[in-house]
Amino acid sequence: MQKTSFGRLLRAGALALAGAWGLSGAASADTIKVGIIGPFSGPFALQGKNFQAGAEAWLAQNGKTVAGHDIELVYRDLPTANPQQARALAQELIVRDKVQYLGGVYFTPDAMAITPLLKQGNVPLVIFNAATSAIMNSSPLVVRTSFTTAQTATPIGKAAVDRGIKKFVSVVTDYGPGVDAEGAFKKAIEAAGGEVVESIRMPLNTTEFSPIMQRIRDAGPQGVFAFLPSGPPTLGFVKAFSDTGLKQAGVKLFATGDLTQESDLPALGEAAAGMVTSFHYAVSHDSEINKRFVAAADKAIGAPDLLSFPAVGAYDGMFVISKMIAATGGKQDAEKAVEAVKGLAWESPRGPVKIDPETRHITQTIYLREVAKDAQGRWINKEIASVPDQKDPGLAK
Ligand code: PHB
Repeated sequence: MQKTSFGRLLRAGALALAGAWGLSGAASADTIKVGIIGPFSGPFALQGKNFQAGAEAWLAQNGKTVAGHDIELVYRDLPTANPQQARALAQELIVRDKVQYLGGVYFTPDAMAITPLLKQGNVPLVIFNAATSAIMNSSPLVVRTSFTTAQTATPIGKAAVDRGIKKFVSVVTDYGPGVDAEGAFKKAIEAAGGEVVESIRMPLNTTEFSPIMQRIRDAGPQGVFAFLPSGPPTLGFVKAFSDTGLKQAGVKLFATGDLTQESDLPALGEAAAGMVTSFHYAVSHDSEINKRFVAAADKAIGAPDLLSFPAVGAYDGMFVISKMIAATGGKQDAEKAVEAVKGLAWESPRGPVKIDPETRHITQTIYLREVAKDAQGRWINKEIASVPDQKDPGLAK
């Protein structure tokens, strides 16, 4: 007797657990929850605000209902790179809030902490930012709508040599996307006939850049290549490059577009003027779709000056999630959802894009841009050249 009830208890427990992990799945017209993890407070809050603006711009333009199911966004704040907290937030979203999809994630270490939960939770993760190539290898249930630093750092090598600049110091933040950027830039500059004479890696929490600027000065390069995660570190770095006299001395700063996000340009002003960067998105990109996106995202973020690239990753991420919801008829089936968007191609505010079926990362145009003023006197990333159809060279087979 006692044995039977214990068995029953065990079975009930297992069922409850399966339910908690979302294994039962919802078929009828339920609300489908999408958990979005990002930095909504703290030093990187503006980046999280851009996730929110991009996601809400998509809902404003397309409506909150997909295939008869209402979409509800559930935001969770992860202020800085913190893998333990990332894992806890993702687990809570999956188990307690019963989200069917996860989106967002600004920092690579957080993405790496979340991917091991996806299979058991039966939840796909659509990455709106984290940009290290290898994240895609950590789970077959990840799709990415942002960029990789290998993708964005590659076109800079040729652009630099075309401008007669061959001798470089490379400066990156010492973690996944920095290491990838350093490697991609070195490969590209060497292929173009240039060289990296010194490679500097800075800890993620570096806020004082004058010792780095001294090291650069001592190495005597013609150019500097830099990657740091966009936010207070990039603002500090570009300012220090100018304030310590390197810009004035004629050393050319090349970087991925993380260093010149539009929301920082008013504060950087002349310090960033003329900087050449490469990136997947400029707010000033000239297309009808982008104009409509910028209008909707400006409205969502409340002040146009605050808009920058994480918004487009989120906007396209919501599009991908909507296709997943439609393909699964609202049922929770992570594998089928991911399968359905492999090869998906569409016109993004950034230009033509496609989810590469092999890597699940976004194939896109990478633009060369120059920091300049537009006709109204506002600082922009002015697109000056484009390299279409770029897969992630860090993953390409
Ligand atoms: C990342 O941690 O992958 C990351 C963060 C900010 C960026 C780029 C990459 O601007």
